[in-house]
Amino acid sequence: MPRKILVTSALPYANGAIHLGHLVEYIQTDIWVRFQKMQPKDKVAECWYVCADDTHGTPIMLRAEKDGVTPEALIERAHGEHVRDFAGFHIAFDNFHSTHSPETREYCEIIYERLRRAGLIEKRAIEQYYDPVKQLFLPDRFIKGECPKCGAPDQYGDNCEVCGAAYTPNELKNPYSAVSGAKPELKDSEHYFFRLSDERCQGFLRRWTREAGRLQPEAANKMQEWLGAEGENRLTDWDISRDAPYFGFEIPGAPGKYFYVWLDAPIGYMGSFKNLCHRRGIDFDEYFRADTQTEMYHFIGKDILYFHALFWPAKLEHAGFRTPSGIFAHGFLTVDGVKMSKSRGTFITAESYLKTGLDPEWLRYYYAAKLNATMEDIDLNLEDFVARVNSDLVGKYVNIASRCAGFIGKKFGGKLAATGAEWQKPVRSASARIAEAYEQREFGRALREIMAFADMANVFVNDRKPWELAQRAGQEAELHAVCSQAIEAFRLLTLYLKPVLPRLAQAVEAFLGIAPLAWDDVAAPLPEGHAIEAYRHLMTRIDPRQVAALVEANKESLAPAAEAPAKDERTEEKAVAETTAPIGIDDFMKVELKVARIVDAGQVEGAEKLVRLSLDVGEEKPRQVFAGIKSAYDPAQLIGRMTVVVANLAPRKMRFGVSEGMILAASDSKGKTPGIFLLAPDAGASPGMRVK
Ligand code: 2FM
Ligand code: ZN
Repeated sequence: MPRKILVTSALPYANGAIHLGHLVEYIQTDIWVRFQKMQPKDKVAECWYVCADDTHGTPIMLRAEKDGVTPEALIERAHGEHVRDFAGFHIAFDNFHSTHSPETREYCEIIYERLRRAGLIEKRAIEQYYDPVKQLFLPDRFIKGECPKCGAPDQYGDNCEVCGAAYTPNELKNPYSAVSGAKPELKDSEHYFFRLSDERCQGFLRRWTREAGRLQPEAANKMQEWLGAEGENRLTDWDISRDAPYFGFEIPGAPGKYFYVWLDAPIGYMGSFKNLCHRRGIDFDEYFRADTQTEMYHFIGKDILYFHALFWPAKLEHAGFRTPSGIFAHGFLTVDGVKMSKSRGTFITAESYLKTGLDPEWLRYYYAAKLNATMEDIDLNLEDFVARVNSDLVGKYVNIASRCAGFIGKKFGGKLAATGAEWQKPVRSASARIAEAYEQREFGRALREIMAFADMANVFVNDRKPWELAQRAGQEAELHAVCSQAIEAFRLLTLYLKPVLPRLAQAVEAFLGIAPLAWDDVAAPLPEGHAIEAYRHLMTRIDPRQVAALVEANKESLAPAAEAPAKDERTEEKAVAETTAPIGIDDFMKVELKVARIVDAGQVEGAEKLVRLSLDVGEEKPRQVFAGIKSAYDPAQLIGRMTVVVANLAPRKMRFGVSEGMILAASDSKGKTPGIFLLAPDAGASPGMRVK
């Protein structure tokens, strides 16, 4: 029976930009899906690729509040940005939806209700930290304090970044709320639990995680560790509710209680697919009923295996739905061997990559060359990236066409001679092996094999030397044959590379004047007399300076800058230049202006224009800000004055220390009235008040 396949990538959080780490997964999934879609219909009848924004939870709620927008507005903005970035990297979702959707709500409610009826939901009171100022129960990540093991200050509520200890927030010493700085109180609240500890769940998961194809071997081992042996009840119940205020779906019959974001996130896969089914007339139930013959695969990062290999199948199974056919976890991305880092400029956003003018297919190729079916981390070595793409794609692959196509156009009216030849046989017969490598997610292996054929084709061209044949009288037929065969080899390579390089393949299809390449087209060489278009350049080499510029662009927020005034002047110029473009209130509200008291001010050794300020902004600790106002103010006279500060400006590392904001002052950009005039609020305003 032909396969019907549903594929997902993990849902990105709506409060963050897509970066190169995310793209490992989306590119991996997209390649796999494109490969499936190239298969003949009698093998793969359908393959759908869905995803969505992960929109719920406390961080998103707080982030929206900080930006002065509603959560709905925040997730809508993120949706637009994410769709743009994914399209930029040719990630071809059939649907990119949102968990904040009626479809996701519907399936949350269905699943919850069925679990409840099965006796797998339990209500119980728990003690939890509560922020009395924000009036909010605090997730572990929003409680900070001293590590109970090593005493390191400012550690999160779940683990210590200094000594690596794991603990519960209740064990932290001198805890404080990372939201308001207040001392949190322990408070009782009723929560809803999914009873994973029930023998039905543990027994099911023990079987399920061992079944062939469900998990990678290393993941299956990890699950066995988590599950323990038969009879050992290691799994604890899972808290699936959160108290208001919370951005999410309210639990039916439980006013003020919301589904925890991780309960609804994977249900977002169903929601997105349901939405697609509705629009495209696909039978949703055929995919989700318990006895389905269809397949469902989730591509995820290894860090969220727990949610996908335990909670998710247990939920689906006991709510009477199908479970995943397989879960494909990948490792993390490192750049030049280390974790992506903002100060190194290697925390690279998708947007900046595209804006710097780098070709998305360069990255797709590089990732593919490094990807396999394991959970090993993959490294983006920037030097190797340039070398590999230039050598493989430009030096080997594109080179075949660029050396032969011209002769076909100039000497033979764009028409090919017979293209099939004995020497191409191994290339053609590798089709099944290359397909198997793609199917198994062994993309590196597939590309190694494809590039070996590119080498072979280049050897053929080098040996026959069309450029010499073209000089010799009476060699036209040989020249025609050599170039035609090389063009056919180029077509075969393009077909094999198409899942990785979809845009390039499209350009080649146009150049060759052929229909979109499908996998079985391997068997049918271009016919004699077939006309091709004039060759146009298909891909440029990477200039290492482009990569350097990309890294530089991503260093922005913590750049080791020169003195502040230089930057302030630039900012001012930009502001002046932009005064003509009106902005909406949402844009204005992104700037967090606050009243500040200058508690200290001093000279900065070695800086011509700067004053070092210590500002009380109503926070626990004063902030240090460097301001370019030395020409107009004597530091001593500033102490005690009130002013206004941009409080959410990203901290900037300068030669003299980190600047944690910017104070506001007026000046005449046309220079008619010289001077700098510090802004100050009317009497009565106090530090920390928001200005708007
Ligand atoms: O870890 C994350 O980024 C989550 N937003 C992934 C959710 S995947 C699925 F469960 F929805
Ligand atoms: Zn510690």
